Amino acid sequence: MSKYGVLMTDIELWTVADNIKENAYSPYSNIKVGAALLTASGKIFTGVNVENSSFGATVCAERSAVVSAVTAGERDFIKIAVSGTMKSCTPCGICRQFLAEFSKDIVVVYKEPDGTLCSKKLSELLPDSFIY
Ligand code: THU
Repeated sequence: MSKYGVLMTDIELWTVADNIKENAYSPYSNIKVGAALLTASGKIFTGVNVENSSFGATVCAERSAVVSAVTAGERDFIKIAVSGTMKSCTPCGICRQFLAEFSKDIVVVYKEPDGTLCSKKLSELLPDSFIY
């Protein structure tokens, strides 16, 4: 793992996600979600949810972050933090599957409904992901 990866605490990565959520485009749900993805090279890629009047075309914050990282040539993901304007925000099923494409060891950081910051391995959140 990179030096920056070691130094980046869960709360720091989550704070990046929490701040970026303000850029969400969500006129239909009014829910803002932000994601911050830490790569093995020590870079952080952010994403927000981008909604569409054709609701199914909506892209979640987590997938926005992954697409941004892959576009930059990064595929080695260590950790992703998620924050939303709802009480607790964990990646949806599609985003879990989307992340699992790269590694089931990715750590997912989010706040529980009681406000506690937790970190869980993707393999725990999606035990039997589809494998091609
Ligand atoms: N959303 C995310 O950005 N990430 C998730 O994991 C769950 C849902 C967004 C999509 C939509 O814009 C809004 O939250 C309500 O579903």
